[in-house]
Amino acid sequence: MRNFDFIVIGSGIAGLSFALRASKRGTVAIVTKRQGRDTNTAWAQGGVACVKSDEDSFDLHIADTLDAGAGLCHEDVVRTIVEEGPEAIDALMNLGVRFDTRTSKSGEMEWDLGREGGHSKRRILHSKDTTGREIESKLLQAARDSPNIQLLEHFFAIDLITTAKLELEAPVRCVGLYALNEETHEVVTLRSDRVIMTTGGCGRVYLYTTNPKVATGDGVAMAWRAGAEIANMEFIQFHPTCLFHPQKKSFLISEAVRGEGGVLIGADGKEFMDRYDPRKSLAPRDIVARAIDQEIKKTGSQCVFLDITHKSREFIQDRFPNIYETCMSLDIDPAIQPIPVVPAAHYQCGGVRTDVNGATSLPGLWAAGEVACTGLHGANRLASNSLLEGVVVARRAVENVLETMPLSGPPEDFEVPEWVSGNVTDVDELVVIYHNWDEIRRLMWDYVSIVRTSKRLHRAATRLQNLQREVQEFYWNFKVTTDLLELRNLVDVASMIVESASRRQESRGLHYTLDYPETNDRDWKKDTVVARGEDACLSLFREAHAF
Ligand code: SIN
Repeated sequence: MRNFDFIVIGSGIAGLSFALRASKRGTVAIVTKRQGRDTNTAWAQGGVACVKSDEDSFDLHIADTLDAGAGLCHEDVVRTIVEEGPEAIDALMNLGVRFDTRTSKSGEMEWDLGREGGHSKRRILHSKDTTGREIESKLLQAARDSPNIQLLEHFFAIDLITTAKLELEAPVRCVGLYALNEETHEVVTLRSDRVIMTTGGCGRVYLYTTNPKVATGDGVAMAWRAGAEIANMEFIQFHPTCLFHPQKKSFLISEAVRGEGGVLIGADGKEFMDRYDPRKSLAPRDIVARAIDQEIKKTGSQCVFLDITHKSREFIQDRFPNIYETCMSLDIDPAIQPIPVVPAAHYQCGGVRTDVNGATSLPGLWAAGEVACTGLHGANRLASNSLLEGVVVARRAVENVLETMPLSGPPEDFEVPEWVSGNVTDVDELVVIYHNWDEIRRLMWDYVSIVRTSKRLHRAATRLQNLQREVQEFYWNFKVTTDLLELRNLVDVASMIVESASRRQESRGLHYTLDYPETNDRDWKKDTVVARGEDACLSLFREAHAF
């Protein structure tokens, strides 16, 4: 058993920001399942929304966030995150992160602020079209350089350990976790009274996604199994413009392309967004993704197109080098031809329920970044608000953790039982694991994506229950592997999405159902909260997850 003052699960912007700040006060372990840089953060293209120009104001940023969030944002949380944005950005820059600048008309240096859907002003700080890569690399380097941080790469967090699981006569709280060391194949026990979950989202629960392979909803699944409340999982954001190409399935075409005047057109070459929203191609994402879905269904074409040909080749190459090079490598020349695009799962707006300090309903556990549901995004996240949220909440969480669980001497000495694993390995069964992975992702895409119905949700729930039984059988009988652990998390998260979507009998933001097409403020202007043990759809899992 290894003891740390703080354990951070995940190594994206939220996890690293927390770890770097906390490391000034104590020892930190960062547990991350692949290499440190394998995160959603590193894939972020657009940038960080932050009020940085005289033409902008906190009130405008707040109003845009509330508007996109369709009535479910927590206004106090929105205000705190927006207003603390500039200070958090300064902290990033102090760690070496660079955002693009340009020379103003009067010859002064100013921020080269981008624009994205739903923003009434230019307010996106960016580093070309690889902002996430810039942030990730600088923060990760700082973490590697810190003597107080141990970066445990290729350690897969399996489950949180709580006093309840240890059957202690003590108030329930989180006291550490079990993690699989992928190099030695041993399960280690990591002990801390201060655990923060920053594992990112769950895009891989869908067949088509802009997310990297690591995005399997591990944090939400783990927190739910440990008894923490999970909120708003029905609000999965579909990015309107994922590249449509067989060789490059998860490549994002940043919303910043539309911010620079890119226009969505159909296969007939005609603009169509004017029929859906006065903001046209720059309407909030829920509206644009639904419109594209409708156009694709109506016309029978496989995709729509994003046209940026009105801009010069030099401009596209300079502003969007990553997108330009990727498209060119696939024989799509964005300077002279429209880019084929489709919507794909992009962002989990719900997650582990927290306050603005990252505190969850389970003492000893905090959460920040995409895995958390702070109330900032409501029913639909405003573009580029997520990196901002990750860094602001992580900073606040450090102070909150220390106030709640002050560092006073060594941690209480518990008897934590060693991990007991099934020891059977049967490679023949691997095929079943892969089959189940595919089945979950396809059924979620077919039954639980942009447009939903009660019947489809019911079908999805029934199938997920069968898959759950199979996955649990593997989990108990076989040696745990990364594939199996990810599958176990995927099926739990998929079930929470289905359960939350089934409960919400209205359409709002990213949740649109043909059975309840109207927004119902009287009954549903509230978060959907699921917790282990209280849901019909999830009750099977309760029995299966005896641990
Ligand atoms: C994008 O570049 O379009 C993604 C930005 C975001 O999801 O916030």
